[in-house]
Amino acid sequence: MTKTRVGVLISGRGSNLQALIEACKAPAYPAEIVLVVSNVPDVQGLAHAEDAAIPTRTINHKDFASRETFDAAVTKALKEAQAELVCNAGFMRLHSEKFVQDWWNRHLNIHPSLLPAFPGLNTHARVLEAGAKISGCTVHFVRPAMDTGPIVAQAAVPVLPGDTEDSLAGRVLAAEHCLYPHALRLVASGAVRVEGETVAGLTRVKDKAPQTPLFSPPLDEGL
Ligand code: GRF
Repeated sequence: MTKTRVGVLISGRGSNLQALIEACKAPAYPAEIVLVVSNVPDVQGLAHAEDAAIPTRTINHKDFASRETFDAAVTKALKEAQAELVCNAGFMRLHSEKFVQDWWNRHLNIHPSLLPAFPGLNTHARVLEAGAKISGCTVHFVRPAMDTGPIVAQAAVPVLPGDTEDSLAGRVLAAEHCLYPHALRLVASGAVRVEGETVAGLTRVKDKAPQTPLFSPPLDEGL
């Protein structure tokens, strides 16, 4: 089986990277990670990659005069590794227009909200402040504007009474660790594709998908 060659971009902890590494271990999984690039030296994510014997590169954005030259170095590294698809996994840099164009429809990001709601930083704090009762996470193709682009898959997560930023982040992160391998499988296998500016495919899902909505608070709250 030919596996899609994936480069992962990180800036820190790398727990989503670790989830992708675990998924890629399955012989039938349609992707393999051929390179992990971090823009921050010595982060935990790099150790995850090294433990799994995946090649790593640290390309420190501080060593570059502009976003464009940094991005060009990242693309060069990805091309050298013959990456066909790029996955941002907690990569905390905005991309130049050129980078986005170079990897158009071959570049995924994960964001810890139900996009298009709550793009950007401090997501969970803003979800709590807004009093939203359901949050979640999204894997989408990357477009020039931050946290926009055709949505591949989402998971909904309830916001619970008494939630703090940390408790909500933890619940969403657990969903992220299932969602990203799932979304990457869909894209790498060719089961879904971008049509116009949405993601299409998987018409048979209709029969399998639960028809019941997620209620938060639950309907049977006991009142
Ligand atoms: C995740 O919540 C991801 O959605 C966001 O940044 C966080 C990265 O966490 N883009 P990790 O580095 O994968 O642990």
